[in-house]
Amino acid sequence: MITAVAIVMSTPDVNGLDEAVDALGEWQVEGAPMQLHPGDLGWYRRFGAEATAAAVRTWRRDGRVLAVGLLDGPDLLRVTTAPDVRRDAELADRLVEDLTDAGRGVLPDGRVSVEAPVDALLQDLLPDHGWVAGEPWTPLRRDLSAPVEDPGVRIEVVGPERAPLWAAVIRASFDRSTFTEQRWHAMAQGSPYRDARCLLAHDTRDNAVAAVLVWSAGPGKPGLLEPMGTHRDHRGHGHGKAVNLAAAAALQRMGSSSALVCTPSSNVGAVATYRSAGFRPRPEVRDLTRPA
Ligand SMILES: CC(C)(COP(=O)(O)OP(=O)(O)OC[C@H]1O[C@@H](n2cnc3c(N)ncnc32)[C@H](O)[C@@H]1OP(=O)(O)O)[C@@H](O)C(=O)NCCC(=O)NCCS
Repeated sequence: MITAVAIVMSTPDVNGLDEAVDALGEWQVEGAPMQLHPGDLGWYRRFGAEATAAAVRTWRRDGRVLAVGLLDGPDLLRVTTAPDVRRDAELADRLVEDLTDAGRGVLPDGRVSVEAPVDALLQDLLPDHGWVAGEPWTPLRRDLSAPVEDPGVRIEVVGPERAPLWAAVIRASFDRSTFTEQRWHAMAQGSPYRDARCLLAHDTRDNAVAAVLVWSAGPGKPGLLEPMGTHRDHRGHGHGKAVNLAAAAALQRMGSSSALVCTPSSNVGAVATYRSAGFRPRPEVRDLTRPA
């Protein structure tokens, strides 16, 4: 008798987080649509290992991880799948059930959003359940096969001693940032941080003026920038461009094939800054949202 192999959703414990990170790393292939990256889990890790594990969901069949999701806030699930199961009907049906039924412990009732790669079958199915397209985001990509231009300013690779300064520049870059030195240390203890570089750009007076974190997914794979910002008192002087060039160069040194980033299309300053550092916009993507 043949029995159907059920898809099982679970929340990893702290020790199981690496499996999700490794799966996400494996799934980063050049040319794939924008998708959840190991660096996204690495950045979330600032909230601690327990909080990160609690925010992750995995879906597996026969022991194999097919999909990984990150609850990036209470009402947003960012999810991606192994490349070969993007159109797998059983997986997509199961995801729809888990995302639409609050009892499954993924998303609550009411207004919620899902980010998934544009080629995922889930994208075709959720609109049948009343989900609608959300605000447009612009993914940008910089190819790393050619040498990266010199940023023209002093770039510092930040270690634990300089974490307070990096945290201060991030707080001065993002209006609602709650980032602290403690969060930096929590993040740096996570396994994804082994493949990350934390950079600061300095101006001619040696003020720390812009910050970026880059996350490699391994040689020959796309790397991610998350987050990136210029101190609000130092904008409009090319420091954003400089720190993005430094980010691209750091990823290139780690063997990344390209550098990726995604920002709301409404953040015209960010899009312009990435473009000025050689990133090329790709077609806009949108979350799917279930209205309240
Ligand atoms: C986006 C941000 C990094 C720009 O930093 P910056 O140091 O002022 O940028 P630069 O001076 O290097 O500008 C780079 C290019 O972008 C353009 N630009 C920067 N801000 C702009 C804006 N608000 N509107 C239009 N163009 C803008 C500049 O004119 C420049 O263009 P050019 O190279 O063609 O001359 C900064 O505004 C910031 O930190 N914002 C908040 C954090 C954020 O949104 N980060 C990105 C999240 S994904």
